[in-house]
Amino acid sequence: MAATEKTFYLETFGCQMNAHDSEKVVGTLISEGYRQVETVEEAGLVLYNTCSIRDKAEQKVFHRLADYKKLQKEGKKFGVLGCVAQQEGHKIFERAPHVSLVCGSASYWKLPGMLAQLDTDIIRDDRPRSSQLAADGLVRITGLDDRQTDKCFETEFTARTNPHRGYITIIEGCDKFCSYCVVPFTRGKERSRTSESVLAEAQRMADLGYTEIQLLGQNVNSYKDPAGKKSFAELLDAVGRVPGIRRVRFTTSHPRDFGKDIVDAIDSNQALCDHVHLPVQSGSTRMLDAMQRLYTRDQYLERISWMKAAKRDISITCDVIVGFPGETEHDFEETLSLLDEVQYDGVFAFKYSPRPNTPAIGLDDAIPDAEKSRRLNFLLERQRSIQQKRNQKHLGESVEVMVESRNEARAQWVGRTTQNKTLNFTSDRNLELGSYVPVRVTTAFPNSLVGELAI
Ligand code: 5AD
Ligand code: SF4
Repeated sequence: MAATEKTFYLETFGCQMNAHDSEKVVGTLISEGYRQVETVEEAGLVLYNTCSIRDKAEQKVFHRLADYKKLQKEGKKFGVLGCVAQQEGHKIFERAPHVSLVCGSASYWKLPGMLAQLDTDIIRDDRPRSSQLAADGLVRITGLDDRQTDKCFETEFTARTNPHRGYITIIEGCDKFCSYCVVPFTRGKERSRTSESVLAEAQRMADLGYTEIQLLGQNVNSYKDPAGKKSFAELLDAVGRVPGIRRVRFTTSHPRDFGKDIVDAIDSNQALCDHVHLPVQSGSTRMLDAMQRLYTRDQYLERISWMKAAKRDISITCDVIVGFPGETEHDFEETLSLLDEVQYDGVFAFKYSPRPNTPAIGLDDAIPDAEKSRRLNFLLERQRSIQQKRNQKHLGESVEVMVESRNEARAQWVGRTTQNKTLNFTSDRNLELGSYVPVRVTTAFPNSLVGELAI
């Protein structure tokens, strides 16, 4: 490594919003003259883009920081970005004194200035606590969104990692305040981007050869075009009509704001994928109320019925929390019966984890961890057989996939269907990554399909 060369290592935890934020951070660092390296050892600056959705996710970053603490003596600098940074703020310096930089996602626009400070060790910041020279001589810099700024971290420099499928943020933050959820506190209030800027970015990506776009937000359904031109469903449709774009996905949806116009848009525009992720969290209206989810079981099922009535076969996935304070065996059984009724194609299930600042932190988290685990495993086992049945329906079908990668060990190609299912398949021909090919499904597993090229 040349003495003057600036290098960084970045590890990302958490959701797709974080994965995409990291692409923006990488783009910004590269534009500031940094080079990305693959290991902590090679890097001058080590960054963790963190998640605080559940306790385990939050602890990971502190374990990593502890693992590499001794490397600070060799001159490496450490930074904590993302949701733990926003949530814990200056406390991170107390817990991990070798950290130099703490920056929440709504403040990444300040990164170039913060990096310059780190680089030169010059302290110049108007907020007295945001940059400190500690007793050990280490410069400590923070970028924390304490004013709930309207700024979105837009995409002047984005280093997208996949050349065919890319994310576009359409809305940041969340105003829902579900009682268990830390997101409104880490990502702030909702801010939407104009439909014009989203469409311009989609067009730029299409020009670069992207064919699949995933629209991102904590709650995409409450998208409000600041210019008042398009609803979320209209924006979806418009992105699907950008020449060159063949697939459009979106995540995450909130049932309360999920309108039938979204299903109509999917029905009328082939470029919109046959997949909706609609987190339910619980099948018990009593629990939904305690979670402050703003809908009942029946209202949720009404949204499901719109999708089941669609002309296209829309695959449906969801998130579930088990063991929320007060969840009885009966409430849990209502969640199981909802799974039976909906017949999801995928369920992400989590044990309830109390989070700082959230309304539910005041509730007695009385369900023992072993009982939460029992409920989780029972639910996942039940869902496995539902998925096995769902996937068996594809046997014999010819399905279009985007070729995503090659698994040499198994001599298979890895493709993804419009329904967001992984389809591993064989082919005599050499295929191009990012191309679209038809595949005949020959075997169904609960979490994937197997097939052979159908041309
Ligand atoms: N405990 C457990 N799971 C949670 N989720 C969000 N907050 C918590 C929490 N405190 C889950 C929800 C959400 C998904 C992203 O993570 O199911 O939809
Ligand atoms: Fe984790 Fe939520 Fe932050 Fe995503 S927004 S990284 S899920 S805490």
